[in-house]
Amino acid sequence: MDRPKERISTLISKEELDKRIKELAAQISRDYAGLDLIIIGVLKGSFIFLADLIRHLDYHVCVDFMGISSYGASTKSSGEVRITKDLEQNLAGRHVLLVEDIVDTGLTLRYLVDALKARQPASVRVCTLLDKPARRQVRVAIDYYGFIIPNAFVVGYGLDYAEKYRGLPFVGVLEELDEQTD
Ligand code: IMP
Repeated sequence: MDRPKERISTLISKEELDKRIKELAAQISRDYAGLDLIIIGVLKGSFIFLADLIRHLDYHVCVDFMGISSYGASTKSSGEVRITKDLEQNLAGRHVLLVEDIVDTGLTLRYLVDALKARQPASVRVCTLLDKPARRQVRVAIDYYGFIIPNAFVVGYGLDYAEKYRGLPFVGVLEELDEQTD
């Protein structure tokens, strides 16, 4: 049998995720009450977080998605961002909440926020499930965050490594095992 190439240890449990996402949804519901809010998910990593978040909001919101290129099979950021799927909604005059899975170097977020602001929305704010500040390369404003995490590569709850592990119900640290490791 093939030896496992990766090991995953739990960093944030399902219970902790559920509790924090309810708190975030309550805060967002209060802040945007009565406003025309559009929630934009950044594919693919944010889809599970976004799905849970909107189910705890106090009212119905418009949801759209933006696809961007990711790291592929590597765990390192290239800093290059490419839009692979654009929005269907017009943002002019509307309040935009961009929902991300994780902010690492900040390069992706800065690119996306600038691209969204160019479409004349009434406001743009950012909500990320995870914030990994140790690796930040550019300054970005994060308005809502779930958890600040240490400098490790994480998977699960939407986040992948080479397209694997998105369906894990928790967030775990991925450790690549070398040939000698037991
Ligand atoms: P940034 O541009 O370096 O901030 O990276 C943002 C994107 O990289 C995220 O939306 C993720 O898709 C991916 N990413 C960064 N760190 C991780 C990680 O620890 N696990 C999985 N994906 C990550």
